[in-house]
Formats: sequence, C-alpha cells, structure tokens
Amino acid sequence: MRKIIITIDGYSSCGKSTVAKQLARKLDYVYIDSGAMYRAITLYFLQNRIDWTSTPAVVEALKNIHLEFVPNTHTGTADMFLNDENVEHLIREMLVAEKVSEVAAVKEVREFAVAQQVKMGVRKGIVMDGRDIGTVVFPHAELKIFMTADITIRVQRRFKELYAKNPNITIDEVKQNLELRDYIDANREISPLRKAEDAIILDNSHLTMEDQLALVMQWVEDAIMAH
Ligand code: DC
Repeated sequence: MRKIIITIDGYSSCGKSTVAKQLARKLDYVYIDSGAMYRAITLYFLQNRIDWTSTPAVVEALKNIHLEFVPNTHTGTADMFLNDENVEHLIREMLVAEKVSEVAAVKEVREFAVAQQVKMGVRKGIVMDGRDIGTVVFPHAELKIFMTADITIRVQRRFKELYAKNPNITIDEVKQNLELRDYIDANREISPLRKAEDAIILDNSHLTMEDQLALVMQWVEDAIMAH
C-alpha cells in the first residue's frame, strides 16, 4: 500500500503521542516525537548553562548537539539520544518542561530541528507529532490531524503521568505549566501552534481509546485512497 505522511499537532498533553504510536504500530510506520528534539536541546542548554537569549551562544551550542532517535526493542518506539547518551527519561522531567517552550521559540533552534525533521520524511511512512508539523515541517502531508481536549482532562492526564515519577508534584503546578506552555507555543513569533487549514480536528475529551483509533484509521484509509 502507498505510504503517506501523517502529522499530528495540538496542545500539550492531548494524547498526541498515544495516537501517533498506535497509528505507527498499526500501519508499520515510523513514529517521530518532534517535541523530544526540543526537549533534548533544552536539556543540553540547561546542562551547559547556555544563554538561549543570546544568538551567538545558541549558534555555537547547536554545533555541539547531535540528536538521534534510536529504536528501543522493549518499548517498540525510539529513544532520544543526545550526543550518544540516552536522555529519554531526563527530557521528560519538570525542569526541562518548564523551559522547553522558551527554547523552542528561538529561531535558530527551530531551523536546526526542522531541517532534521524534514529529512526524516523523505521516504514517507511516518507519523510525526508536534506543534508545527502540518503547517511548517510537512505542509504537503497527506493527512493532518489537529488534536485538542478540555484543559481539566489534559491536566489530569499529565498529572497522573508525572505523579507516578514524582509524588511531590501538585495539580496546580501541572496546570500552570500546561497553560503557560500552550500560551507560549501558540503566541510565539515563529511557527506558532495553529491548525493547518486542511487539518482535521480531533477532540478526544470524551472518546475512548478504541473509538479514537477507529476514527483516525478511517481518516488514514480515506487519505491513502485520495492520494
Ligand atoms: O510535545 P512536547 O510536550 O514534548 O513538546 C515540548 C515542547 O516543544 C512544547 O512546549 C513545544 C515545543 N515543540 C514545538 O515547538 N514544536 C514541535 N514541533 C514540537 C514541540
């Protein structure tokens, strides 16, 4: 069957990666978590005390950053490697989450990440999730999905995830972080989060996992037929 590019954009903690992973598994496509790249760059900047408000400092630092997705046979997806170190767990920590939106708003950072993302799509057969995948990275993707869900539901989901790793975390902290990130992501100057004109909206506030997958699989079949 013809392979296509599927983009999934949307707010933080809408379940983009869950749908993307399910689709990739079902279709035997490669799943790419573009947010992991911005998180890994943020981690590098934090670890090396790089001032991301300084363009020369960012340009210099990016020369020393090598990002790679390495398949993990246990999870069936890929882990993010930063300069040959597996940082998959480190990049999910609150410290990174608090700063990643600021770093992801830097022009040179975006150019660096987007250039690599574009290359990953040359052979098609990929599902990539993020904020600007359907608008900037793959404006000609065959299927674009824009995900959204109620803020209270998103906060609960993210809280559950983070609480399992850190029982000191509070609902308020999680809510503030989500709202702030959404605000910065949607209001930044370069490639802000927005729905591509030809994207289909998926509001999963009240959908079961099964119904959601069935719905999206129908869109995939339609997109393959149409192209
Ligand atoms: O999807 P995520 O929560 O792991 O993304 C982390 C941050 O990276 C998010 O706050 C916005 C940014 N991001 C982006 O600007 N563009 C993307 N394509 C993916 C993520």
